[in-house]
Amino acid sequence: MLYEKTKKIFPGGVNSPVRFFQPHPIFMNRGNGSKIYDIDGNRYLDYCLAYGPLILGHENIQVRNAIVKTLKKGWILGTPTLYELEFAKILKEAIPVLEMLRYTNSGTEATMHAIRLSRAYTGKKIIIKIAGSYHGAHDSVLVNRGHGNKGIPSSPGVLDEIAGNTLVINFNDFTNLEKVINENKNNISAMIIEPVLGNIGVIPPVEGYLKFIREITEKNDILLIFDEVITGFRERLGSAQDYYHVEADLITLGKIIGGGLPIGLFGGKEEIMKKVAPQGKVYQAGTFSGNPLSMSAGIATLKQLKLKDYNSINKKTEKLINNLQKISHDYDLNITINHFGSMFQLFFSDTPVKDYNSAKKSDDRQYFDMFQYFLKNGIYLAPNQFETNFLSFVHTEKDIKKTTEIFEKFADIMKRKKRKD
Ligand SMILES: Cc1ncc(COP(=O)(O)O)c(C=O)c1O
Repeated sequence: MLYEKTKKIFPGGVNSPVRFFQPHPIFMNRGNGSKIYDIDGNRYLDYCLAYGPLILGHENIQVRNAIVKTLKKGWILGTPTLYELEFAKILKEAIPVLEMLRYTNSGTEATMHAIRLSRAYTGKKIIIKIAGSYHGAHDSVLVNRGHGNKGIPSSPGVLDEIAGNTLVINFNDFTNLEKVINENKNNISAMIIEPVLGNIGVIPPVEGYLKFIREITEKNDILLIFDEVITGFRERLGSAQDYYHVEADLITLGKIIGGGLPIGLFGGKEEIMKKVAPQGKVYQAGTFSGNPLSMSAGIATLKQLKLKDYNSINKKTEKLINNLQKISHDYDLNITINHFGSMFQLFFSDTPVKDYNSAKKSDDRQYFDMFQYFLKNGIYLAPNQFETNFLSFVHTEKDIKKTTEIFEKFADIMKRKKRKD
């Protein structure tokens, strides 16, 4: 079996842990539209969509044409190019807080540099993050809630000294944030937050929460970083901060803006961004940053998104969720579904999921049973309860109908099982 070979070469047989699931991941061969095909030719309707970048679906022709056109002129030049500028113009138009920006190759790099910049700009050490949020795999954010405030490493190899400078708070908890700020007055450089959590399933903020964060951070000279690697260009042509009417000081983007090629960026207020080298002293660099292929794929993606009606994809998502919700009700399943734009997740839980603790109470084994059942029936969901499912603009009514039918069959099995128990 192929997996027997790959697991000897790559830890766990994969090149990113989220791709692994029991008993082994499936090897995919190609993607087209809303479908992916495994190496045996089986077709799957894809709701994982490579964990977010493919809002236009797989193998988008205009993105492909843009990449090919650029390829013919050499794919890395190591100098400034016009692609960088053209891309930035579209980004700045859609997200006005991007007064200045710097491209990176991934979301991980983007948040890492945004945090370093915040520390340098404010001259303070501590950052605040949310329990259950994910900002990439670097030391300042691989941190769990600590006892008595100091964060503790969530991975071996992360130093206590680094984790200790990250304070982890509850999402949607006004009092927790206020308390942590009061207890660490004058030492907090930045708060980094996904405006809608997308790495513990999907969890939107409660009314007024982001505004409260903006006010209290501003009052305490704490920079606010919105990590919009998932939410950027997801619900609208722009950012979730537009949706919630809250402006951060810095923003990080990735995924969608690269059209499926490696990308990230951090940017924001000029006054802060001009501290980045070589204009300023805060060091940040990358051989592949702003590479012509990612820039071209990004330009081709955003140009198409400019012409799209986001209402259509958001409504399509709502329709699917309403169908699933109705079935859950009809079959007495305890399911909570959260969504934002075209990102959604089902939690096997009968209570609202509004933070890390309530998300963790949901039954992830049942989610995995559903994942396996869907897989057998030609639908590829995000393999883990604590990831996000996505729709693309090319998901069709037929796709929604099929998903609804499969879910109903699954609900029926669950109900029978419950009766037997
Ligand atoms: C909100 C958020 N920030 C940062 C990252 C890291 O991005 P990348 O995987 O491109 O390094 C992710 C990845 O899933 C993410 O969801």
